[in-house]
Amino acid sequence: MIIASVLENQKNEKRVAVTPEIAKKYISLGFEVLLIEKYGNHLGIKDEEYSSVGVKFSSDEKEILTKSDIIIQLGLLTNEKSSFLKENKLLIGALNFYENKEEIDILTKKGIKVFSLELLPRITRAQSMDILSSQANLAGYKAVIESFSNFEKAIPMMMTAAGTIPAAKVLIVGAGVAGLQAIATAKRMGAIVFATDVRMASKEQVESLGGKFLTVEGAENLETEGGYAKEASEDFKKKQENLLSETLRKIDIVICTALIPGKKAPVIIKENMIQNMQPGSVIYDLAAIQGGNTAFTEVDNIIEKNGVKIMGETNILNKLPVSASSLYAKNMFNFVENLFDKENKKIKINLEDEIIEKTLIK
Ligand code: NAI
Repeated sequence: MIIASVLENQKNEKRVAVTPEIAKKYISLGFEVLLIEKYGNHLGIKDEEYSSVGVKFSSDEKEILTKSDIIIQLGLLTNEKSSFLKENKLLIGALNFYENKEEIDILTKKGIKVFSLELLPRITRAQSMDILSSQANLAGYKAVIESFSNFEKAIPMMMTAAGTIPAAKVLIVGAGVAGLQAIATAKRMGAIVFATDVRMASKEQVESLGGKFLTVEGAENLETEGGYAKEASEDFKKKQENLLSETLRKIDIVICTALIPGKKAPVIIKENMIQNMQPGSVIYDLAAIQGGNTAFTEVDNIIEKNGVKIMGETNILNKLPVSASSLYAKNMFNFVENLFDKENKKIKINLEDEIIEKTLIK
């Protein structure tokens, strides 16, 4: 069986789905690995690093897509590239099913088996395949670094002969995977960290990392069975707004991460709250691409309102694509290994396996 990957649109996506370390693992499972020439060049990975572990290369994308059994990618292929895929072949990636339903529908109608890994159930057995967690963790870290480098004051408290500089105060909105890593990173750099979430389970996690949890008074726990957030009621939103309006007066940096799967991101930081913030403060909005958690977020632009910088990007992972690819490629391998029937050396789509059933688009 041939497992293959071609280049993404590198303007938005520098990550790769196969690293040399992981190619070796596919080959030891019994796969042939086929990549487009110069696949990892932009990350400093030469073709020879891949070929030394047994990877084959082709310069013909059409040939790769036509003859391979499994294609693993980050995002969806362009329509032209997709047209080369054949019935019963597998396409696996982070295909953003909720956004790309129409394009994915065309593929499934052609009989292509499409797996989108952001649909993975959040169960223990799926943790090693969980691309949302591995990538959100890096995004949370990098959002802190980006916001701190746009903040024109020091972060930790410094007591010097020339006087004392106070520690910066950071607020994390949404304490899921990205938010928890943002808390840990900001703490490590000496900031005082506050966090809020609609899921009560996150309170303990925030506190265990040394953050102060801001509880919305009288809030019910807005958590689904799958561990995700439910959309908040109007009453909750009002109470959250009052709490954050007051808190934001003394906050220097805000990292927004609040998401509701399959829906537009909730607008949590409103115009009047930004008016209350100190000029020079910075908001990094990791929810930018899903509509943003602030009233002003613009993807790939730094907006200034009342002296507050508001920033968010299409793909923050493009700023650490080597680390992100290394984890993504491992997640993908673990997913493919779970699909692989080792005895018969073939792919087995066992719909009784929750991991397979939930990620296969039907
Ligand atoms: P996410 O990326 O969908 O959302 C980020 C955070 O924003 C979540 O914590 C959510 O509760 C919060 N949020 C949503 N609306 C909000 C609002 N209006 N105000 C404040 N906060 C709001 O979530 P993520 O990071 O993917 O994690 C979701 C859950 O899955 C968490 O409980 C996490 O611990 C759990 N998880 C479980 C795993 C496993 O057991 N295999 C693996 C990874 C995560």
